[in-house]
Amino acid sequence: MATIKQIAKLAGVSIGTVSNVLNELPSVREATRKRVLTVIDSLGYQPSLLGRALRKDQTNMIVMIVPDITNPFFPGVVRGAEDVAFQNGYRLVLCNSDNDYAKESAYMRELRTYRPSGLIIVPADLSKGQEEARAYLNAGSAVVYVDRIPSRWRGDAVTSAHEEGAYEATKHLIALGHKRIATITGPLQGTSAVQRLAGFQRAMNEARLPVPTQYIQESNFNRAGGCEKAELLLKLRARPTAIFAANDLIAMGAIKAARRAGLSCPDDISIFGFDNLEIDDETTPALSTVDQFISELGARAAQIVINRVAGDKSAAKHICIPTCLRLRGSTGALKTRRATATGKKVVERKS
Ligand code: RIB
Repeated sequence: MATIKQIAKLAGVSIGTVSNVLNELPSVREATRKRVLTVIDSLGYQPSLLGRALRKDQTNMIVMIVPDITNPFFPGVVRGAEDVAFQNGYRLVLCNSDNDYAKESAYMRELRTYRPSGLIIVPADLSKGQEEARAYLNAGSAVVYVDRIPSRWRGDAVTSAHEEGAYEATKHLIALGHKRIATITGPLQGTSAVQRLAGFQRAMNEARLPVPTQYIQESNFNRAGGCEKAELLLKLRARPTAIFAANDLIAMGAIKAARRAGLSCPDDISIFGFDNLEIDDETTPALSTVDQFISELGARAAQIVINRVAGDKSAAKHICIPTCLRLRGSTGALKTRRATATGKKVVERKS
């Protein structure tokens, strides 16, 4: 296998100059750089990534840990990060923690020994410490939290405007004439779920609309939880006419529950989600949702890592990406039912 020494001899330069060309340092004259690259190509030389890592004490690896790879939201975030990482010569290694802090910590401990350039993490449990994340910082790796942030974390982070998105979605349901609006939250130990509940409550309070205790149902961020909690809501004597779901999977479970109860969405029950997954257009009816620009979350996180490795020593950033509403068929104006003189039920859509 060709060596740097052979390249230097054939190109008539020092070993240091060959190394500078391999590390793309600007100090090399263009003519010299071209001559060295010609010899490298002719010998089919492959630089040793391990050798480079040992010299820099850091590899071009970016570790990314997400809590639930089966939720389409996370592959969307990963895709955004991986595109930016690959374009900049980094290699992303993906880990699924299954919402398990012990598994997440084990991944972090093991992969830190590979001297990664950075760690991008959606944490499994916000109540736990960030000792492992700080160990990455102490080893010179960049660390970016995405989607949900531990309360004591003061480093780089990228999230959506969870509260504002939920507030706008709930305001939209109110504008459609709904007054009995319920919400199915995500697990309330997570900041994204807590902030979305806060946005829902802010909109309801501003409209002076009551929210009975049963109208707030806590679920996991999945279809089964959404279906189970929606079934409880739909059995209430004062059944809600609209549901704000804390993510799209919960919303899809609620649509399933409505169908099981013989109710029409949106005629009998409007359902609003949060994420804007690609599959939202495929549900029946297509899901109205809050778009949190999923791949942008990952792309911004990867760019922060790359900037930090390149020497960005600026203060830690919390990037909050604004959301916007995507209105589809699962939401509609409140319908009132009145009986005609002949007792026939007539459904009217409030203007
Ligand atoms: O963790 C699950 C949810 O949290 C995702 O669906 C997305 O909404 C994220 O914020």
